[in-house]
Amino acid sequence: MSDPTPLKVMAMSGSLRKGSFNTLSIRAAQELAPAGMSIELYDLASLPFYNDDIRAAGYPPEVQKFRAAVAAADAFLFASPEFNYSVSGVLKNAIDWASRAPNMPFAGKTAAVMGASAGALGTARSQHTLRWIMSGLDVYVVNLPHIYIGSASQKFDASGALTDQPTRDFLKQLLENLRVLTLKLKA
Ligand SMILES: Cc1cc2nc3c(=O)[nH]c(=O)nc-3n(C[C@H](O)[C@H](O)[C@H](O)COP(=O)(O)O)c2cc1C
Repeated sequence: MSDPTPLKVMAMSGSLRKGSFNTLSIRAAQELAPAGMSIELYDLASLPFYNDDIRAAGYPPEVQKFRAAVAAADAFLFASPEFNYSVSGVLKNAIDWASRAPNMPFAGKTAAVMGASAGALGTARSQHTLRWIMSGLDVYVVNLPHIYIGSASQKFDASGALTDQPTRDFLKQLLENLRVLTLKLKA
């Protein structure tokens, strides 16, 4: 029998661009999610730049809201552009806000990683960095499949739908693997 409580997946896009291929990838994931999983996109635009003086004085309301959402999630789905071979500043900034003691809302949870880029490598370099960052936060990242959406403009149609069938199949598998890993860890 399947778990009756749907898994809550908090999705984060590392791009604030309106037509972002990474945000569109998350939209595709919402459509392809397996039964028993709900994926909610969290908008990172309202977060201030990390400043430890601000943290010491008390988390601002936008940060408190973000940290509470991380704490309430069962798992995470990250889609980030590769900016200069690394994770975008937008995503890294958000992760930093949820990484400080006393509570570490990411710890012990699971994540899936993907990314889209204009170039051929499809964020391969930055995804390895993101996996490394997650290891430091004690997040268990799904190993396979790796989803590198290269030449992204050719993989989505004018309405923003992910049309590349192999990518859709890999994405479906990634979400299923995230579901299985998350349930294993919760058991
Ligand atoms: C500041 C900056 C740095 C970039 N660096 C890389 C890079 O290192 N590797 C790469 O494949 N694409 C790079 N790109 C191109 C992005 O992959 C491309 O703009 C992508 O579509 C951004 O993601 P989005 O569609 O989700 O906004 C860079 C773009 C910007 C604006």
